Amino acid sequence: MEVVIAPPAELARLAADAVEAVLRSRAAPVLGVATGSSPLAVYVELARRHREQGLSFARAQAFMLDEYVGLAADHPERYRNVIEVELVSRVDLAPGAVHGPDGLADDLPAACAAYEAAIVDAGGVDLQLLGIGSDGHIAFNEPGSSLASRTRIKTLTRQTREDNARFFDGDLAAVPEHCLTQGLGTIMEARHVVLLATGRAKAEAVHHLAEGAVSAMWPATVLQHHPHVTVLVDDAAASRLQLAEHYRQTYAGKPAWQGL
Ligand code: GLP
Repeated sequence: MEVVIAPPAELARLAADAVEAVLRSRAAPVLGVATGSSPLAVYVELARRHREQGLSFARAQAFMLDEYVGLAADHPERYRNVIEVELVSRVDLAPGAVHGPDGLADDLPAACAAYEAAIVDAGGVDLQLLGIGSDGHIAFNEPGSSLASRTRIKTLTRQTREDNARFFDGDLAAVPEHCLTQGLGTIMEARHVVLLATGRAKAEAVHHLAEGAVSAMWPATVLQHHPHVTVLVDDAAASRLQLAEHYRQTYAGKPAWQGL
């Protein structure tokens, strides 16, 4: 696991560099896209590169991490719609290239199984962008999630619903109680995981992620078992890291050719 501590704008550029490398090097690139505020600056940077430098997403497919259950098809906070606004509408992803678990399906378990199969059919995820919840969740794998879990229905914790109420005009009651989410085992199959975290509210979760014991109580810690994880954090999110100085020195001395 590589930890890079840098200002937010640089983090977004680094993540965009990694996405760009996948888009340019793979014949059929498969991106894993996340919602939440953490990746937003990355999408803005990718849109800029598309607009100004011709970076093309035309051959790519994108798989979302998770989705609320039961939000109406046209609800602005439905993750499928969020990703449409934040990324798809700004680049040249082909129609039908973005996939997400179907939170409006009549048969939710079948929708979860179909989603797992679709990821496999696409050849697996080359690069997964991730955020992290203040309680250490990734996607919607809340504390207590099986470290081997697959795409399934989950109940959101009160903490996560409170954290996400800001997207629903502060109305906690409007935040759905259930979601569909890729499991931790699903996320672990992505070939490269790039996790972004900024702000002090993420500091404890980031400490556990990089330096804590692997535990279902801090679901992101499963990533310690992944061979290629890049953790991109600003000073505030890095403020609880015991080895912060070591990460800074390591990154400062890293050869430019190495990439993420
Ligand atoms: C939600 C999403 C996660 C995201 C997390 C953190 O719960 N399901 O994918 O990582 O929020 O969000 P933010 O980046 O806004 O802090």
